[in-house]
Amino acid sequence: MLDSGPDFEALLEYIREARGFDFTGYKRASLLRRIARRMAELNIDGYSAYLDYLQVHADEFPTLFDKILINVTEFFRDKQAWEYLARDIVPRIAEKRGLIRVWSTGTASGEEAYSAAITFCEAIGQEEFLERVKIYATDVDEDALNRARAGYTEKDLESVDENLRGKYFERMGGRFAFKAALRRALIFGRHDLMQDAPISRLDLLICRNTLMYFTAEAQGRILTRFHYALSDDGFLFLGRAEMLLTHAALFKPVDLKQRVFTKVPRAQLRERLQILALTETAEPADQVDRQLRVRGLATEGAPHPQLIVDAAGILVGANPPARRVLDIPASDVGRSFKDLTISYQPVDLRSPIDRANRDRRPVLVPSAQVAQPNDEVGVFDVHVAPLIDDAGSVVGTTISFVDVTVQSQLRTELDRARQEVETAYEELQSSNEELETTNEELQSTVEELETTNEELQSSNEELETMNEELESTNAELQTINTDLRARGDEIATLNALLEAITGNIDVGAVVLDADMRVRVWNERAADMWGLRSDEVLGRSFYALDIGLPANELESMISSVIVGNGAHQELTVEATTRRGRRIRCLVKAHTVSDGIRPRAAVLVMEELSAGVPD
Ligand SMILES: C[S@@+](CC[C@H](N)C(=O)[O-])C[C@H]1O[C@@H](n2cnc3c(N)ncnc32)[C@H](O)[C@@H]1O
Repeated sequence: MLDSGPDFEALLEYIREARGFDFTGYKRASLLRRIARRMAELNIDGYSAYLDYLQVHADEFPTLFDKILINVTEFFRDKQAWEYLARDIVPRIAEKRGLIRVWSTGTASGEEAYSAAITFCEAIGQEEFLERVKIYATDVDEDALNRARAGYTEKDLESVDENLRGKYFERMGGRFAFKAALRRALIFGRHDLMQDAPISRLDLLICRNTLMYFTAEAQGRILTRFHYALSDDGFLFLGRAEMLLTHAALFKPVDLKQRVFTKVPRAQLRERLQILALTETAEPADQVDRQLRVRGLATEGAPHPQLIVDAAGILVGANPPARRVLDIPASDVGRSFKDLTISYQPVDLRSPIDRANRDRRPVLVPSAQVAQPNDEVGVFDVHVAPLIDDAGSVVGTTISFVDVTVQSQLRTELDRARQEVETAYEELQSSNEELETTNEELQSTVEELETTNEELQSSNEELETMNEELESTNAELQTINTDLRARGDEIATLNALLEAITGNIDVGAVVLDADMRVRVWNERAADMWGLRSDEVLGRSFYALDIGLPANELESMISSVIVGNGAHQELTVEATTRRGRRIRCLVKAHTVSDGIRPRAAVLVMEELSAGVPD
């Protein structure tokens, strides 16, 4: 199998530039398979060779697009999902007032759009449907759209319920078209999901078994457009393999199993962010109380490390956990805090202290890593809080180190696990989509094979018919052959008879055909004129070198041969083979096949009265 690589990408780039078809956002596995199939049909190996071919043969583009764009579809594909749509979603849409806007994108040959039309008609009645519903049905593939306009075969309608078939389709020649009166509510047109602006203010967006052909990145771009295109209370209806697991910020499932989603409205997104921002900046109402309590509790007995610095910047307290965990000797108490290592290691505490005192609010220094005596590293959230007396003056600062090592580890693990789950989800979705696209490819191959099979069967039938015709012609020929052979035998007999007759008469006899060629030349003629029968047969009578003045006979012979009088005669002077001058009576008779003259018989006879010397 060929791989994707620079040559393949160059091919996609060329297709985009030359024809405006952007396949760069399509999943490579499926694209590679489809293009490789086309190349195999043409016996081309190598994408750059195929690019050359495309440059020379502009008529190759439609065939290639036809290979790449898989149009597998049917009416009410995935019946359960359509039943769910009809039962739970369409009534919710119909409940709203005003126009209902539906977009079936990647509609292929339109079965999906007509299924939607039927579903709405069944829900609200044909009259209201015509008044309220507009269904936009689009696809990038013009040929597929033309099929949608041309109507369907009986086989195409197999998945439509018998009674709906009669209600919504009418015969048009040998095909079935969607009822013309209702057809007005559907608008078919070419639309490229990768490049064209979406149709907006939609109540229902149907995009089934199409997204799965695109890469995750391209899917993201298309879904952002879909988010814009849907009304806040609109629904998105996807295909069986399309779950939107990784796009939960834009759409939330109404029913994941049936692949119906609704969008997370813009306002709700904003609200969420605002709440988030407020919780980050708000000062709890009991903040001061809490600080005072902390100061009160900042005693030796506190379970976590705690330091107290007075308003003059002197370390006035360090409880036992602080001395142990932070390695602060008792002698440091009473010294300027800024001079101690703990003021800047493992994290800088000087500016948080200044900030807490200035702003009169606690400051959190998260996730400080502190080396422990057992050589392990502990993670601490450092809370720096001002100590404020009853008169409202800042009299010092408490610095508490809260051990969050376990939580931090858990959080890291959780993040990793979440990441893994997300990756697994993505892989699952991508495998699912891959499976479905392969499935569709198989289905399209099966359809192609079925067509080829049908064609083969019909060629076979044709061959068989021809064979039978040949056999019958053969039999006829054999009969004709037998007839001919019998006729040949008859002719041979007649010839023998003729020869016997002409050989035994005492006059010269010659038979000429319509072209004046000699057919019969008897013994006596040979004797009279000195040429044997084998020397004259087939030759023109007028070209014979004999003592008979043939040119004098020409008009008589011609006249007899075209049938002007069956018998004519003429006496001419001639010279025999021995050089004797004679008077010769030549009688010409027409030979006819019963319909028209075919030949002439000349009978030549020497008259007894010779030519005077
Ligand atoms: C497998 S069919 C799905 C037909 C129908 N939605 C269904 O589920 O039965 C996929 C359709 O997506 C169309 N398609 C592919 N790329 C497209 C694009 N960029 N824009 C619009 N449609 C596209 C193809 O032409 C094809 O008709």
